[in-house]
Amino acid sequence: MANESLFLKNLWYMAGLSSSLKAGALRREMLLGEPVLLGRTPDGKAFAMRDICPHRATPLSAGKFRDGDVECPYHGWRFRPDGVCSVIPSLLQDQNVDVNRIRVRSYPLREQDGLIWVYFAASPDQDTAPVGEPPKVGVPNATPRWIESQTFACGIDHAVVGLMDPSHAPYVHGRWWWRVKAKVKEKRYAPLPTGFVMTRHAPSKPAYKLFGGDVSTEITFELPSVRFENISGTLFGRHIDVVGFTACTPVDADTTQVTQVFYWPGWLSFVKPLFMVLGPIFLGDDRKMVELQKQGLQFNPNLMLIQDADVPALWYHRLKKAWAESVEDGKPFENPVQERTLRWVS
Ligand code: FES
Ligand SMILES: [Fe+2]
Repeated sequence: MANESLFLKNLWYMAGLSSSLKAGALRREMLLGEPVLLGRTPDGKAFAMRDICPHRATPLSAGKFRDGDVECPYHGWRFRPDGVCSVIPSLLQDQNVDVNRIRVRSYPLREQDGLIWVYFAASPDQDTAPVGEPPKVGVPNATPRWIESQTFACGIDHAVVGLMDPSHAPYVHGRWWWRVKAKVKEKRYAPLPTGFVMTRHAPSKPAYKLFGGDVSTEITFELPSVRFENISGTLFGRHIDVVGFTACTPVDADTTQVTQVFYWPGWLSFVKPLFMVLGPIFLGDDRKMVELQKQGLQFNPNLMLIQDADVPALWYHRLKKAWAESVEDGKPFENPVQERTLRWVS
């Protein structure tokens, strides 16, 4: 069941990969419990609209393109990519219906870094401009080099918290060939406009050595559910920037699509086979844990957040609450996160 208040509004959500939406495609997606038609016009422009025909509710995604507009499969009403009705075929010339006044809700959409972002406004008023723009990948000409997307059987909060949880790695991701030996970690965190960052540091996991001896990384989280890991290093005497991007996109109250994308310079693509093997395994570990967790969550137990390992999770809940309140009251958002060092064993 979809509950409107579960999902933060006035924010951009990552709705899919540009490469997955070919010219002339119409696709139905559930996003935040709403049916959304994602489409790309034959001449290449992506758009998003509510996937319900205002005539008699047929999914417009089941229709097709005609003259650059979306044609409903039931009675052939046509809608421009901006949601405005352009044609009602049953009308005679002397039947005065102002078809342009009929509209399907359209969602602001942006395409950048090979990602499709859809904006969910708090008010469905078509003419309100988005507050802010979607986050950018911090490298020039960012091209997705490796992509993994899995459906998690949990709501957005457990998906996000699982993602930022620093103490599960030795248990969930440990393997004899991937030793994650627990030790004391101490990391500095600072606030970001709508989230926080684990500030730049030398990572301890040996796998990072792949990106050179002087490798450093920072990990950001911003609302609604976007994480960037910005890795820098030197390999073969060349500076490299690698960005790991993760988005948790709510499908509905109990389902979340988790997508990971890596960006690296073209010449570094020899690392891809490693990602192809490890990526699905590690994301699958998290997905399986969420399924196990579901067995307990169905009984609605109280949950605990323990210092310091669960502080990022606590921040997430506070950020979410502060954002929801600012949208509700129309007041500026104030980030509740303070700069702080967190220590834990993992
Ligand atoms: S239901 Fe779409 S045109 Fe009638
Ligand atoms: Fe994990």
